[in-house]
Amino acid sequence: MPKTISPYTHIIKVKDDVYALFNSLWLRVIFVDGDLLPFIYALMRNEPPKKSLSLLAANFREEGQSLFQQMELQKFMSPESDEIKLDQIRELLDEQKISIMYLIMTSNCNLACTYCYLSEALYQNKLEDMDMVTDTIRKAIDMFAGLVKRGEVEKPEIIFYGGEPLLNIVALEFALKYASTTIPNCSFTMNTNGTLVDEPSAKLLKRFDVEVGLSIDGPENVHDKLRIDRGGKGTFSRAITGYKKLKENGVNVGISCTITPANVGHLAEVTTWLINDLGIESLGFNLMIGEEADSGIVDDYTNSAAKALMDSFEIAKEAGVYEERVMRRVNALSDGQVSLNDCGGCGQQVVITPDNQIGVCQAFMNTGENFFPFNEVENPSNHELWKKWRKRSPFNIPECLDCEALGMCGGGCPYNSLIRYGDFMAPDLVHCAHVKETLHFLLGDLWELSLEA
Ligand SMILES: C[S@@+](CC[C@H](N)C(=O)[O-])C[C@H]1O[C@@H](n2cnc3c(N)ncnc32)[C@H](O)[C@@H]1O
Ligand code: SF4
Ligand code: SF4
Repeated sequence: MPKTISPYTHIIKVKDDVYALFNSLWLRVIFVDGDLLPFIYALMRNEPPKKSLSLLAANFREEGQSLFQQMELQKFMSPESDEIKLDQIRELLDEQKISIMYLIMTSNCNLACTYCYLSEALYQNKLEDMDMVTDTIRKAIDMFAGLVKRGEVEKPEIIFYGGEPLLNIVALEFALKYASTTIPNCSFTMNTNGTLVDEPSAKLLKRFDVEVGLSIDGPENVHDKLRIDRGGKGTFSRAITGYKKLKENGVNVGISCTITPANVGHLAEVTTWLINDLGIESLGFNLMIGEEADSGIVDDYTNSAAKALMDSFEIAKEAGVYEERVMRRVNALSDGQVSLNDCGGCGQQVVITPDNQIGVCQAFMNTGENFFPFNEVENPSNHELWKKWRKRSPFNIPECLDCEALGMCGGGCPYNSLIRYGDFMAPDLVHCAHVKETLHFLLGDLWELSLEA
């Protein structure tokens, strides 16, 4: 049977006359000289290898032959294994466990950041429903402990979220104590605006080894444009005081920086400032979710953010600072391990709200969609909603199968897809631009490295 080339083969220009032959399903790359492209294009037209080789100038045929051997070794010439791999990946998707629980400690917030994707959900509830009470926390942790045990989850994680979780510190302390004794091996994360951190809260977070993501969008003039309190005042100095307090107490704290209209144009300076002036050790950028990013507030947010993110990643890398979003792609590419999805919302998390609802993604707190009364969902793992969201991966999205970024993408944010394009299974285009930019950058990097080797 004549050999055919994998449909997951892509040719990506790296520089001048150098191209990456990239298999988006197996995450394999072979760098080739432009002179060999006629051979590859012929294979892609399903011409037999011998005939394809004959299209090369005589002095390139030996090189073409050796390229073909490499392609065979690197899974470019075995489409039958592609089908098997794709089936295995889809099975893995369906078998994913719930390993994360978000506890929305309060749906209240002391700030009113103008871009907050939860703004419709915050401050709206009746006062008595805003803060999570210990009874809800206990039930939620017991339920999660059951999921972790039945699923033999190795690394369970509880994320304390809001609103602003430090508005409900008494319940936070209860949750940390109860979860520590109920779920062995559980790690804790908290997202905070930092403005309410004081000595006791910092000590509490240190005692339970909580990893903190503190939101800072840049130096004062940048941060204060959009991260304002409910009286309209900037919150920079309070957030920085909180950050320093956490550091002084030895808390593991990283910065969560949202790429907004206020900083997208100078994210490189923001990154340099975070590293040099604030002395951060880890950093995670958020691409904007919700409707704002595509609503014309910035000309072409999608592409500007993708480029700005890569420039900032490079700056952070040079300074030895770990940027989480891009590193996820780097790891996928370097390990050859496909990224199944990009967000726990794709069926691997439960979100518990103060008003006793359980859902798949916190963004839907705005509308209540995809949430159910907690006592009506006995086992979220077997619930139709979680089963459906587990399938939300590029490997189940037809247009993604043809995309060069398929295996390292993860698919971005299903909430974005739903509210921007009306279908949670549609590609999230802000994420697409970022992932493709990252892939091209990483291939360039790999090429440079191959020259040094
Ligand atoms: C919703 S807040 C909740 C925790 C806490 N109040 C805080 O500000 O960190 C969590 C993170 O989401 C980010 N965020 C808010 N709105 C966003 C949006 N529209 N797009 C992307 N990230 C957003 C915030 O900047 C923050 O880093
Ligand atoms: S502090 Fe957090 S929850 Fe509060 S408005 Fe800002 S981003 Fe939203
Ligand atoms: S979500 Fe976008 S970048 Fe990712 S695989 Fe699909 S089309 Fe490609």
